[in-house]
Amino acid sequence: MNRIRAKILGTGKSLPQKILTNADLEKIVETSDEWIRTRTGIQERRIAEPSEATSDLAIAAAKIALENARVQPDQIEAIFTSTCTPDMFFPSVSCLVQSALGAKNSAAMDISAACSGFIYGLATAKGFIESGTFKTVLVIGVDTLSKITNWKDRATCVLFGDGAGAAVIQSSQDGSGILSVFLGADGNEAEILKVPAGGSRLPASPEVLEKNLCSIRMNGPEVYKLAVTKMVKASEKAAEMAGIQCSDLKLIIPHQANLRIIDSVAKRLNLGPEKVFVNVQKYGNMSAATTIVALDEAQKEGRIQRGDLVELVAFGAGLTWGASVIRW
Ligand code: UT7
Repeated sequence: MNRIRAKILGTGKSLPQKILTNADLEKIVETSDEWIRTRTGIQERRIAEPSEATSDLAIAAAKIALENARVQPDQIEAIFTSTCTPDMFFPSVSCLVQSALGAKNSAAMDISAACSGFIYGLATAKGFIESGTFKTVLVIGVDTLSKITNWKDRATCVLFGDGAGAAVIQSSQDGSGILSVFLGADGNEAEILKVPAGGSRLPASPEVLEKNLCSIRMNGPEVYKLAVTKMVKASEKAAEMAGIQCSDLKLIIPHQANLRIIDSVAKRLNLGPEKVFVNVQKYGNMSAATTIVALDEAQKEGRIQRGDLVELVAFGAGLTWGASVIRW
Protein backbone atom coordinates (compact mmCIF):
# COMPACT_ATOMS: atom_id res chain seq x y z
CA MET A 1 0.00 0.00 0.00
CA ASN A 2 1.33 3.48 -0.91
CA ARG A 3 1.79 6.05 1.85
CA ILE A 4 -0.92 8.64 2.51
CA ARG A 5 -0.44 11.74 0.37
CA ALA A 6 -2.33 14.97 -0.14
CA LYS A 7 -3.76 14.95 -3.65
CA ILE A 8 -5.37 17.78 -5.62
CA LEU A 9 -8.82 16.50 -6.65
CA GLY A 10 -10.14 19.58 -8.40
CA THR A 11 -9.31 23.22 -9.04
CA GLY A 12 -11.21 26.40 -9.95
CA LYS A 13 -10.53 30.05 -10.67
CA SER A 14 -12.44 33.32 -10.60
CA LEU A 15 -11.35 36.55 -12.23
CA PRO A 16 -13.02 39.95 -12.24
CA GLN A 17 -14.80 40.83 -15.50
CA LYS A 18 -13.12 44.19 -15.89
CA ILE A 19 -10.00 44.20 -18.08
CA LEU A 20 -7.42 46.98 -17.77
CA THR A 21 -5.10 47.08 -20.79
CA ASN A 22 -1.70 48.72 -21.13
CA ALA A 23 -3.39 51.30 -23.38
CA ASP A 24 -5.79 52.11 -20.52
CA LEU A 25 -2.79 52.59 -18.18
CA GLU A 26 -1.20 55.02 -20.65
CA LYS A 27 -4.11 57.33 -19.81
CA ILE A 28 -3.55 57.04 -16.03
CA VAL A 29 0.25 57.34 -15.61
CA GLU A 30 3.23 58.24 -17.77
CA THR A 31 3.94 54.82 -19.25
CA SER A 32 3.67 52.99 -22.55
CA ASP A 33 2.44 49.66 -23.81
CA GLU A 34 5.95 49.11 -25.20
CA TRP A 35 7.64 49.67 -21.79
CA ILE A 36 5.23 47.40 -19.96
CA ARG A 37 5.43 44.60 -22.55
CA THR A 38 9.21 44.60 -22.88
CA ARG A 39 9.97 44.99 -19.14
CA THR A 40 7.26 42.66 -17.79
CA GLY A 41 5.47 40.73 -20.56
CA ILE A 42 2.11 41.97 -19.24
CA GLN A 43 -0.53 43.03 -21.77
CA GLU A 44 -3.63 43.29 -19.59
CA ARG A 45 -4.87 42.50 -16.10
CA ARG A 46 -8.25 42.02 -14.33
CA ILE A 47 -9.44 44.61 -11.82
CA ALA A 48 -12.14 44.04 -9.18
CA GLU A 49 -15.08 46.43 -9.03
CA PRO A 50 -15.31 48.71 -5.98
CA SER A 51 -18.14 46.47 -4.73
CA GLU A 52 -16.14 43.26 -5.36
CA ALA A 53 -14.09 42.03 -2.38
CA THR A 54 -11.48 39.32 -2.00
CA SER A 55 -13.98 36.86 -0.49
CA ASP A 56 -16.32 37.25 -3.49
CA LEU A 57 -13.60 35.99 -5.83
CA ALA A 58 -12.52 33.31 -3.33
CA ILE A 59 -16.06 31.95 -2.96
CA ALA A 60 -16.61 31.79 -6.73
CA ALA A 61 -13.31 29.94 -7.28
CA ALA A 62 -14.02 27.56 -4.39
CA LYS A 63 -17.47 26.60 -5.77
CA ILE A 64 -15.93 25.63 -9.11
CA ALA A 65 -13.12 23.66 -7.42
CA LEU A 66 -15.67 21.72 -5.33
CA GLU A 67 -17.74 20.94 -8.40
CA ASN A 68 -14.68 19.74 -10.34
CA ALA A 69 -13.57 17.63 -7.36
CA ARG A 70 -17.12 16.26 -6.88
CA VAL A 71 -16.87 17.09 -3.19
CA GLN A 72 -19.77 18.43 -1.11
CA PRO A 73 -19.24 21.48 1.16
CA ASP A 74 -20.00 19.44 4.29
CA GLN A 75 -17.08 17.10 3.48
CA ILE A 76 -14.54 19.92 3.86
CA GLU A 77 -12.73 19.79 7.20
CA ALA A 78 -10.51 22.85 6.83
CA ILE A 79 -10.33 25.98 4.67
CA PHE A 80 -6.97 27.74 4.31
CA THR A 81 -7.07 30.98 2.36
CA SER A 82 -3.80 32.65 1.45
CA THR A 83 -4.20 36.37 0.94
CA CYS A 84 -2.60 39.68 1.83
CA THR A 85 -5.71 41.64 0.88
CA PRO A 86 -8.47 40.24 3.14
CA ASP A 87 -11.91 41.89 3.15
CA MET A 88 -11.12 43.20 6.66
CA PHE A 89 -8.76 42.42 9.58
CA PHE A 90 -11.25 39.91 10.92
CA PRO A 91 -13.19 37.71 10.46
CA SER A 92 -10.86 35.91 8.09
CA VAL A 93 -11.66 35.40 4.41
CA SER A 94 -11.71 31.66 5.19
CA CYS A 95 -14.60 32.15 7.62
CA LEU A 96 -16.52 34.18 5.03
CA VAL A 97 -15.93 31.40 2.49
CA GLN A 98 -16.99 28.75 5.00
CA SER A 99 -20.30 30.53 5.57
CA ALA A 100 -20.98 31.11 1.87
CA LEU A 101 -20.28 27.48 0.99
CA GLY A 102 -22.21 26.08 3.94
CA ALA A 103 -19.10 24.11 4.90
CA LYS A 104 -20.44 23.53 8.37
CA ASN A 105 -17.91 20.85 9.36
CA SER A 106 -14.87 22.95 8.49
CA ALA A 107 -12.21 24.82 10.44
CA ALA A 108 -11.08 28.06 8.80
CA MET A 109 -8.01 30.29 8.90
CA ASP A 110 -6.08 32.64 6.64
CA ILE A 111 -2.39 32.45 5.73
CA SER A 112 -0.27 35.55 5.14
CA ALA A 113 2.68 34.83 2.83
CA ALA A 114 1.99 37.31 0.01
CA CYS A 115 2.78 35.94 -3.47
CA SER A 116 4.08 32.63 -2.05
CA GLY A 117 0.78 32.16 -0.21
CA PHE A 118 -0.71 29.35 -2.27
CA ILE A 119 2.38 27.18 -1.79
CA TYR A 120 2.32 27.91 1.96
CA GLY A 121 -1.35 26.87 1.85
CA LEU A 122 -0.50 23.64 0.03
CA ALA A 123 2.18 22.89 2.62
CA THR A 124 -0.32 23.45 5.45
CA ALA A 125 -2.89 21.18 3.82
CA LYS A 126 -0.24 18.51 3.17
CA GLY A 127 0.84 18.54 6.82
CA PHE A 128 -2.68 18.22 8.20
CA ILE A 129 -3.64 15.52 5.71
CA GLU A 130 -0.49 13.41 6.12
CA SER A 131 -0.79 13.61 9.92
CA GLY A 132 -4.30 12.21 9.65
CA THR A 133 -5.91 15.33 11.19
CA PHE A 134 -8.03 16.18 8.13
CA LYS A 135 -9.05 14.18 5.08
CA THR A 136 -10.46 16.91 2.84
CA VAL A 137 -9.13 20.48 2.75
CA LEU A 138 -9.90 23.52 0.60
CA VAL A 139 -6.89 25.75 -0.20
CA ILE A 140 -7.48 29.15 -1.79
CA GLY A 141 -5.01 31.67 -3.21
CA VAL A 142 -6.65 35.05 -3.70
CA ASP A 143 -5.70 38.71 -3.84
CA THR A 144 -7.14 42.03 -4.93
CA LEU A 145 -3.92 44.03 -5.04
CA SER A 146 -5.70 46.73 -7.07
CA LYS A 147 -7.26 47.82 -3.76
CA ILE A 148 -3.84 48.57 -2.23
CA THR A 149 -2.13 49.90 -5.37
CA ASN A 150 -0.94 53.49 -5.62
CA TRP A 151 -2.44 54.41 -8.99
CA LYS A 152 -0.06 57.37 -9.24
CA ASP A 153 3.07 55.18 -9.01
CA ARG A 154 3.90 53.93 -12.50
CA ALA A 155 6.66 51.67 -11.15
CA THR A 156 4.08 49.45 -9.42
CA CYS A 157 0.56 50.14 -10.75
CA VAL A 158 1.25 48.53 -14.13
CA LEU A 159 2.28 45.22 -12.54
CA PHE A 160 -0.70 43.91 -10.58
CA GLY A 161 -4.06 42.31 -11.20
CA ASP A 162 -6.81 40.65 -9.17
CA GLY A 163 -7.94 37.02 -9.09
CA ALA A 164 -8.60 33.84 -7.15
CA GLY A 165 -7.85 30.17 -7.48
CA ALA A 166 -8.88 27.23 -5.31
CA ALA A 167 -7.95 23.58 -4.92
CA VAL A 168 -9.74 20.75 -3.14
CA ILE A 169 -7.15 18.47 -1.57
CA GLN A 170 -7.83 15.02 -0.19
CA SER A 171 -5.82 12.17 1.27
CA SER A 172 -4.97 9.53 -1.30
CA GLN A 173 -2.96 6.33 -1.46
CA ASP A 174 -2.81 5.90 -5.22
CA GLY A 175 0.84 7.05 -5.47
CA SER A 176 0.03 10.50 -6.88
CA GLY A 177 -0.25 13.79 -4.98
CA ILE A 178 2.02 16.38 -3.41
CA LEU A 179 5.46 14.75 -3.24
CA SER A 180 7.37 17.61 -1.62
CA VAL A 181 7.11 21.17 -0.37
CA PHE A 182 10.03 23.46 0.35
CA LEU A 183 9.37 26.82 2.07
CA GLY A 184 11.69 29.71 2.92
CA ALA A 185 11.58 33.27 4.25
CA ASP A 186 13.88 36.21 4.98
CA GLY A 187 12.36 38.96 7.13
CA ASN A 188 15.64 40.92 6.90
CA GLU A 189 14.48 41.98 3.44
CA ALA A 190 10.99 43.04 4.58
CA GLU A 191 11.60 46.66 3.53
CA ILE A 192 11.99 46.04 -0.20
CA LEU A 193 8.35 45.13 -0.73
CA LYS A 194 5.70 46.30 1.71
CA VAL A 195 2.56 48.24 2.51
CA PRO A 196 3.84 50.64 5.20
CA ALA A 197 0.56 51.60 6.90
CA GLY A 198 -2.94 50.46 7.67
CA GLY A 199 -1.93 48.01 10.40
CA SER A 200 -1.03 48.44 14.08
CA ARG A 201 2.33 50.19 13.42
CA LEU A 202 0.75 53.04 11.50
CA PRO A 203 -3.03 52.81 11.55
CA ALA A 204 -4.95 54.41 8.70
CA SER A 205 -5.54 58.14 9.33
CA PRO A 206 -6.25 61.11 7.06
CA GLU A 207 -2.50 61.94 7.10
CA VAL A 208 -1.48 58.36 6.26
CA LEU A 209 -4.01 58.24 3.42
CA GLU A 210 -2.86 61.63 2.14
CA LYS A 211 0.69 60.23 1.83
CA ASN A 212 -0.59 57.06 0.14
CA LEU A 213 1.07 54.92 2.81
CA CYS A 214 -1.62 52.22 2.68
CA SER A 215 -0.40 51.13 -0.73
CA ILE A 216 2.38 48.93 -2.11
CA ARG A 217 6.01 50.16 -2.06
CA MET A 218 8.57 48.12 -3.96
CA ASN A 219 12.24 48.30 -4.82
CA GLY A 220 11.67 46.54 -8.16
CA PRO A 221 15.25 45.74 -9.19
CA GLU A 222 16.14 44.30 -5.73
CA VAL A 223 13.00 42.17 -5.66
CA TYR A 224 13.74 41.05 -9.21
CA LYS A 225 17.25 39.75 -8.38
CA LEU A 226 16.14 37.91 -5.25
CA ALA A 227 13.07 36.46 -7.01
CA VAL A 228 15.28 34.76 -9.59
CA THR A 229 17.85 33.31 -7.17
CA LYS A 230 15.33 32.17 -4.54
CA MET A 231 12.95 30.59 -7.07
CA VAL A 232 15.80 28.67 -8.71
CA LYS A 233 17.05 27.39 -5.32
CA ALA A 234 13.52 26.52 -4.14
CA SER A 235 12.77 24.63 -7.37
CA GLU A 236 15.96 22.58 -7.04
CA LYS A 237 15.37 21.92 -3.35
CA ALA A 238 11.75 20.74 -3.80
CA ALA A 239 12.87 18.49 -6.69
CA GLU A 240 15.61 16.98 -4.52
CA MET A 241 13.13 16.42 -1.67
CA ALA A 242 10.83 14.61 -4.11
CA GLY A 243 13.75 12.46 -5.31
CA ILE A 244 13.65 13.78 -8.87
CA GLN A 245 15.72 16.01 -11.18
CA CYS A 246 14.25 19.24 -12.58
CA SER A 247 14.72 17.66 -16.04
CA ASP A 248 12.08 15.05 -15.03
CA LEU A 249 9.40 17.75 -14.79
CA LYS A 250 6.66 17.86 -17.42
CA LEU A 251 5.81 21.42 -16.46
CA ILE A 252 6.98 24.13 -14.10
CA ILE A 253 4.43 26.71 -12.99
CA PRO A 254 6.33 29.74 -11.71
CA HIS A 255 4.87 32.76 -9.95
CA GLN A 256 3.68 35.12 -12.67
CA ALA A 257 5.16 38.51 -11.79
CA ASN A 258 7.37 39.26 -14.76
CA LEU A 259 8.12 37.30 -17.95
CA ARG A 260 11.82 38.18 -17.66
CA ILE A 261 11.95 36.63 -14.17
CA ILE A 262 10.16 33.49 -15.46
CA ASP A 263 12.58 33.21 -18.42
CA SER A 264 15.65 33.60 -16.17
CA VAL A 265 14.41 30.95 -13.74
CA ALA A 266 13.63 28.53 -16.59
CA LYS A 267 17.03 29.14 -18.22
CA ARG A 268 18.91 28.51 -14.98
CA LEU A 269 16.94 25.29 -14.42
CA ASN A 270 17.63 24.25 -18.01
CA LEU A 271 13.94 23.98 -18.87
CA GLY A 272 12.79 24.77 -22.43
CA PRO A 273 9.69 26.92 -23.13
CA GLU A 274 7.53 23.81 -23.65
CA LYS A 275 8.06 22.98 -19.96
CA VAL A 276 7.16 26.43 -18.61
CA PHE A 277 3.63 27.71 -18.05
CA VAL A 278 3.06 31.42 -18.69
CA ASN A 279 -0.13 33.48 -18.39
CA VAL A 280 1.32 36.73 -17.00
CA GLN A 281 0.40 38.49 -20.27
CA LYS A 282 -3.32 38.11 -19.44
CA TYR A 283 -3.41 38.76 -15.72
CA GLY A 284 -0.25 40.51 -14.44
CA ASN A 285 0.85 39.64 -10.93
CA MET A 286 -2.16 38.33 -8.94
CA SER A 287 -0.05 37.59 -5.86
CA ALA A 288 -1.34 34.50 -3.99
CA ALA A 289 -3.67 33.64 -6.88
CA THR A 290 -1.00 33.31 -9.58
CA THR A 291 0.22 29.74 -9.18
CA ILE A 292 -3.21 28.20 -8.56
CA VAL A 293 -4.88 30.06 -11.44
CA ALA A 294 -1.99 28.94 -13.66
CA LEU A 295 -2.31 25.33 -12.42
CA ASP A 296 -6.04 25.41 -13.17
CA GLU A 297 -5.42 26.72 -16.70
CA ALA A 298 -2.49 24.36 -17.41
CA GLN A 299 -4.69 21.41 -16.58
CA LYS A 300 -7.65 22.63 -18.64
CA GLU A 301 -5.36 23.35 -21.61
CA GLY A 302 -4.16 19.73 -21.49
CA ARG A 303 -0.57 20.63 -20.51
CA ILE A 304 -0.70 18.17 -17.58
CA GLN A 305 -1.75 14.52 -17.80
CA ARG A 306 -2.20 11.91 -15.10
CA GLY A 307 1.19 10.72 -13.77
CA ASP A 308 3.06 13.88 -14.91
CA LEU A 309 5.48 15.63 -12.55
CA VAL A 310 4.59 19.30 -12.07
CA GLU A 311 6.34 21.89 -9.95
CA LEU A 312 4.90 25.12 -8.54
CA VAL A 313 7.36 27.80 -7.41
CA ALA A 314 6.73 31.28 -6.03
CA PHE A 315 8.36 34.25 -4.37
CA GLY A 316 6.94 37.33 -2.66
CA ALA A 317 6.89 39.93 0.09
CA GLY A 318 8.18 38.98 3.49
CA LEU A 319 10.31 37.90 1.84
CA THR A 320 8.83 34.46 1.37
CA TRP A 321 9.35 31.73 -1.20
CA GLY A 322 8.38 28.13 -1.79
CA ALA A 323 8.16 25.28 -4.27
CA SER A 324 6.20 22.06 -4.47
CA VAL A 325 6.52 18.98 -6.68
CA ILE A 326 3.27 17.20 -7.48
CA ARG A 327 2.69 13.89 -9.25
CA TRP A 328 -0.56 14.56 -11.11
O1 UT7 B 1 5.53 39.07 -6.80
C1 UT7 B 1 6.81 39.35 -6.32
C2 UT7 B 1 7.01 40.78 -6.35
N1 UT7 B 1 7.25 41.44 -7.57
C3 UT7 B 1 8.17 41.15 -8.50
O2 UT7 B 1 8.68 40.07 -8.63
C4 UT7 B 1 8.59 42.29 -9.40
C5 UT7 B 1 10.10 42.38 -9.47
N2 UT7 B 1 10.59 43.50 -10.25
C6 UT7 B 1 10.33 43.70 -11.55
O3 UT7 B 1 9.60 42.96 -12.17
C7 UT7 B 1 11.05 44.83 -12.26
O4 UT7 B 1 12.05 45.36 -11.41
C8 UT7 B 1 10.10 45.97 -12.69
C9 UT7 B 1 9.21 45.51 -13.84
C10 UT7 B 1 9.27 46.42 -11.52
C11 UT7 B 1 10.92 47.15 -13.22
O5 UT7 B 1 11.77 46.77 -14.26
P1 UT7 B 1 13.31 47.21 -14.25
O6 UT7 B 1 13.88 46.72 -15.51
O7 UT7 B 1 13.90 46.70 -12.96
O8 UT7 B 1 13.18 48.78 -14.30
P2 UT7 B 1 13.66 49.88 -13.24
O9 UT7 B 1 12.82 49.83 -12.02
O10 UT7 B 1 15.15 49.79 -13.08
O11 UT7 B 1 13.31 51.19 -14.06
C12 UT7 B 1 13.93 51.49 -15.32
C13 UT7 B 1 13.39 52.81 -15.82
C14 UT7 B 1 13.44 53.92 -14.77
O12 UT7 B 1 13.76 55.12 -15.47
P3 UT7 B 1 15.26 55.71 -15.42
O13 UT7 B 1 15.53 55.95 -13.97
O14 UT7 B 1 16.13 54.63 -16.01
O15 UT7 B 1 15.15 56.94 -16.24
C15 UT7 B 1 12.01 54.00 -14.29
O16 UT7 B 1 11.68 55.29 -13.81
O17 UT7 B 1 12.01 52.67 -16.19
C16 UT7 B 1 11.24 53.70 -15.54
N3 UT7 B 1 9.91 53.15 -15.27
C17 UT7 B 1 8.91 53.23 -16.17
N4 UT7 B 1 8.82 53.77 -17.39
C18 UT7 B 1 7.64 53.65 -18.04
C19 UT7 B 1 9.48 52.48 -14.18
N5 UT7 B 1 8.20 52.12 -14.34
C20 UT7 B 1 7.82 52.55 -15.56
C21 UT7 B 1 6.62 52.49 -16.28
N6 UT7 B 1 6.58 53.04 -17.52
N7 UT7 B 1 5.51 51.87 -15.81
